[in-house]
Amino acid sequence: MARILLTGGTGFIGSHTAVALAEAGHVPVLLDNFANSEPSVVEAVGAITGASPTLVEADIRDRDTLAAVLRDHKIDAVVHFAGLKAVAQSVADPVAYWDVNVGGMIALLGAMRETGCRRLIFSSSATVYGEPAALPVDETAPTGAINPYGATKLACEQLMENLAASEAGWDLVALRYFNPVGAHPSGSIGEAPRGSPNNLMPILLETVTGRRGPLSIFGDDYDTPDGTAVRDYIHVMDLAEGHVAALEAPGEGFRAFNLGTGRGTSVLELVRAFEQATGVPVPREKAPRRPGDVPVLEAAVGKAERELGWRATRSIAEMCRDAWRFASRN
Ligand code: NAD
Ligand code: UFG
Repeated sequence: MARILLTGGTGFIGSHTAVALAEAGHVPVLLDNFANSEPSVVEAVGAITGASPTLVEADIRDRDTLAAVLRDHKIDAVVHFAGLKAVAQSVADPVAYWDVNVGGMIALLGAMRETGCRRLIFSSSATVYGEPAALPVDETAPTGAINPYGATKLACEQLMENLAASEAGWDLVALRYFNPVGAHPSGSIGEAPRGSPNNLMPILLETVTGRRGPLSIFGDDYDTPDGTAVRDYIHVMDLAEGHVAALEAPGEGFRAFNLGTGRGTSVLELVRAFEQATGVPVPREKAPRRPGDVPVLEAAVGKAERELGWRATRSIAEMCRDAWRFASRN
């Protein structure tokens, strides 16, 4: 049993990871400033696991508070989710993205160094691969940012690598998420962003619940079987369990792992799978390609299987059913 601090712990991936950690016998402590989530998530997590986790309201850039939390709660390891994640917004306001994402990481690592906590798991992204030259993309592929959001994720990874090289005893892991979707099967936690969503599944859910018009399918002339872009969608509970596996497989230095399924699904396939899994029709229309989108992104998943003993097991149908259950209840 370990005591784990989850920064950004009331967010989409953080809340599901809190459930997975509690179910594996660990003690999650959540820290968030509610920039993109609600405090009520804590009770929802508690209703699933049988005990509401401790919640600390704080900003990830507040190093002194972070150090106090690490000490007071005797934290063994940190999972760092807190940050800003909208690509277009990062183009419009790069200072805010560097401030929260990179400034937050600097404050966190400073507090960890000060208090002797040496284990960190960081929410990185497949975006660090930019436009990959070969698919499926593995962890040895060259990295490169194609937008400010990606630049902040890469900068955080580089800082972790520099720190691990500077001093023995650090165990720093970057988990490069592909496309997380779905929700806990209870339907009581899920993806509930403030404001307008940017990703396919939450936008599709707004369409089918009547909160927006037809789903725009961005591009139907890619070099893919049906012309629409292909992504590696992963159920958020599989992703959450990937964090538990990473915490339970200690290592040394800096390591990066892809978390995906290794299977690509096109936009059109996802839309049809949703209709089939839920019986709910998805009104849709063709739209031009979205600037900055890559045609295909699929993870090579062998490293996580070998070194963490983890692989994703849930299907696209489960992702759709669980996402719909949460959306239709909330
Ligand atoms: P989310 O917005 O639901 O969760 C992030 C949490 O961080 C929110 O609860 C938010 O309130 C909190 N937060 C933001 N700024 C903060 C600050 N200054 N101080 C403290 N807390 C703050 O997003 P998510 O989808 O759960 O993503 C979690 C992490 O995973 C992020 O770092 C994101 O970049 C990364 N990631 C997400 C995806 C995805 O598609 N969802 C893909 C790759 C990587
Ligand atoms: N899409 C549509 N219509 C929409 C929204 C999305 O057709 O209304 C398409 C996109 O064009 C893309 C696919 O659905 O082909 C998936 O789009 P998302 O925005 O859900 O996901 P992305 O793969 O573009 O982005 C994700 C993360 C980013 C990360 C990026 C690269 O959300 O944080 O992967 O790794 F930067």
